Amino acid sequence: MDKISVEGGSRLYGRTVIGGMKNSALPVIYACLLIKDECIIENVPRVSDVENSLQILRGMGAYADFVGEHTVRIDASSVGGEIKDFPLVSKMRASSYLMGVLISRFGEAYLPMPGGCNFGARPIEQHLKGFSCLGATCSEENGLITIKAKEKLKSAKITLDKISVGATINTVLASVLVDGETVIENVAREPHVIDLINFLNACGAKIVHLGSKIAVEGVKKLHGIKYRIYPDMIESLTYMACVGVCGGEAELIGAEFSHISYVCDIFGKMGLEIKSDRERIIVKSRGNINGADVITAPYPLFPTDLHPQFAAMLCFANGGGTVTEEIFPGRFGYVAELQKMGAHIVREKNSVIISKSEMHAAELDATDLRAGAALIVASLGADGRSIVNNVGYIVRGYENIVGKISDLGGKIKFIKEI
Ligand code: EPU
Repeated sequence: MDKISVEGGSRLYGRTVIGGMKNSALPVIYACLLIKDECIIENVPRVSDVENSLQILRGMGAYADFVGEHTVRIDASSVGGEIKDFPLVSKMRASSYLMGVLISRFGEAYLPMPGGCNFGARPIEQHLKGFSCLGATCSEENGLITIKAKEKLKSAKITLDKISVGATINTVLASVLVDGETVIENVAREPHVIDLINFLNACGAKIVHLGSKIAVEGVKKLHGIKYRIYPDMIESLTYMACVGVCGGEAELIGAEFSHISYVCDIFGKMGLEIKSDRERIIVKSRGNINGADVITAPYPLFPTDLHPQFAAMLCFANGGGTVTEEIFPGRFGYVAELQKMGAHIVREKNSVIISKSEMHAAELDATDLRAGAALIVASLGADGRSIVNNVGYIVRGYENIVGKISDLGGKIKFIKEI
């Protein structure tokens, strides 16, 4: 198994490029299945969830591949509705978007329960509620999902019971080609939801996002387009966390401040200096950061995808702090790993209480994508050489994390095991 080795304790100075947002590239890739034309998607990160999604599309008969460093070409004009690679689909959460696009294009979808990161149950009843309101029947048996529309789907007024990125996107995907106006209430408003809507609108859709509501005026067809994915806000925030812990100054080229202003405000109170213009964010830290208390919540509030990395920062922060997890109650796999490094962390229900700790190097196991990133943040701040195992989780969502942290001056290496 591949590993990452991190020699901690030095300041970070340098510049690196922030890639495209994994969580918008994925729905955009699946949305291409709605389009009987060629789409060129730029700024797509080379992460394994993207590579696997392209492979799923190829298995269905689409052309779907990188044609440049970060440019993907997808032509789904002649796909069939049958998914060939069930094991690959069940490895990934984003494959749930197949439900929305297949029910729209073929009137039925048959697939295994989508998988996802390793932090507890990931229900899909809100996705199914969206499809049912549009007139489909949904059933699940032995981990297999069947969705069928006996007649054409019908526009509807849908109120999701829970704010969900996946259910919002899936309901939009299923309704974009349905006659009439579908209104979806209590929707997610993450930048990745907006990115997907911008992509669909560029392809001819008529979708308006109004705060907690989305109105979809169905169109007859979508056309091909060239589209550029937003920069990855969690990648930007992860590297900012590294600089916060180590001290130093980093230029994050391509990072988008407006997507992360809520967290930047918290980082500012912790002592990080953040400046931005249209092309970059510059983050500076003396390395002597203050603590903070945060609660994860849907956008625009504190992102659950930064919870573990933020908890790692708090181990180095004067006065420590707390993280309360309100989205994924199982997202605490990193706690035992940080404790191996000397972290004083107490877990109480869905919160962690963290005190400033003497952090030392250790051999660590990534338990999921963001937990793995948290271990790298902590290892960069701790004295000595840490080893992070289970790198497969990290490459699901961070392209070239080792190269990018090296660009910032971090002493980090990828160890390929044969
Ligand atoms: N939920 C339900 N029922 C549903 C759907 C969701 O109860 O039918 C619950 C979930 O269990 C969770 C909450 O609603 O408690 C929010 O889940 P959401 O549906 O918003 O998450 P998701 O769409 O499964 C995406 C990202 C996650 C990110 C979350 C929240 C992708 C592929 N995944 O997941 O990304 O944490 O939104 O922002 O876009 C990551 O990148 O590390 C990652 C896990």
